[in-house]
Amino acid sequence: MTKLSDFFSRELPRVNVTIEQELAHLNPLVKEVGRHILLSGGKRLRPMLTILTARCLGHHGEDIYPLACSLEFLHSATLIHDDILDNADTRRGRKACHLIFGLHRTVLAGDALLALANLIVARYDIPAMNYCVAQAIMRTATGEVEEIAQIRSPRPDRAAYLEIIRGKTADLIRAACSCGAILAGADEDLIEHADSFGLNVGMAFQLVDDALDYAADHELLGKPLGGDLREGKITLPLILYLQTLQEYQQRTLLHKMAHDELSESEMKRIVDSIQEMGLDKKVREEAGEYLQLARQSLKHFPGTPQKSLLLEIIEVVRSRKF
Ligand code: IPE
Ligand code: IPE
Ligand code: MG
Ligand code: MG
Ligand code: MG
Repeated sequence: MTKLSDFFSRELPRVNVTIEQELAHLNPLVKEVGRHILLSGGKRLRPMLTILTARCLGHHGEDIYPLACSLEFLHSATLIHDDILDNADTRRGRKACHLIFGLHRTVLAGDALLALANLIVARYDIPAMNYCVAQAIMRTATGEVEEIAQIRSPRPDRAAYLEIIRGKTADLIRAACSCGAILAGADEDLIEHADSFGLNVGMAFQLVDDALDYAADHELLGKPLGGDLREGKITLPLILYLQTLQEYQQRTLLHKMAHDELSESEMKRIVDSIQEMGLDKKVREEAGEYLQLARQSLKHFPGTPQKSLLLEIIEVVRSRKF
């Protein structure tokens, strides 16, 4: 076992117990939805980043657990909302929440989970932490809404794509690291480095997610391949693919995507081509550039055992298969 998986197996029970304790106070209608999404697996990347950042920067208190879990509550709320927005049927190999509990209840349960996360963070009475989390929620929602807005007028625009993933994914991972640093009482400079570590890990994380959407073992992934294409999402693998086409072919493909006119066989051909051309690997290489920046931020962290675990997380994000 690596040191990181050792750390995960040691910390996971504490994180999961805290999640159960916090869920226990919820209204039963919300609790059932919360339990479905929160107790269905999940890598627990965000709470682990909060714990590791805080520990690395010298905070050893038990009070880290509710904070760490608040980041998982936020993440879970964004997932159940995301599956509605993406019209996704499966999450972590199980039925998506809205297919079990209905749309209305799932939307509102997501809102309640977001509020629960805020309540937990407010208990610490540290304004900088409230600010950090509120900003992350705002940016996540903004990234998601910008992505949805693009579906009807898809543009293979790399800068717009990067802006979207920064909002919808990277900022919450940034907040996970920042909150750990703030609780540790780190100075401004270190909080800034934690922030940029998280943001760059987050960018790489979503880039790899978008590569996996075209090239993964779908059983491992827990959702079908080609989902982004089916949903009309312009992600980096597709942007790279579009660049290999003649202009009229690009226009036709974008038009079909916008009007939901791609046939199953056309989609399969695109997924196969992206794999054959190794475009998923190119996307992973771009993720590697963000991971390099994340690594540089860590240079400013004290040389603790947790720092090597944060370095290990960089490698996990680089090569993850699900
Ligand atoms: C999925 O996140 C949503 C994205 C931001 C890509 P994770 O891959 O961390 O989801 P779980 O929690 O491990 O299922
Ligand atoms: C994840 O984007 C962003 C959020 C959950 C906010 P995706 O839509 O790519 O995530 P998956 O692929 O459904 O997990
Ligand atoms: Mg989705
Ligand atoms: Mg989505
Ligand atoms: Mg995805």
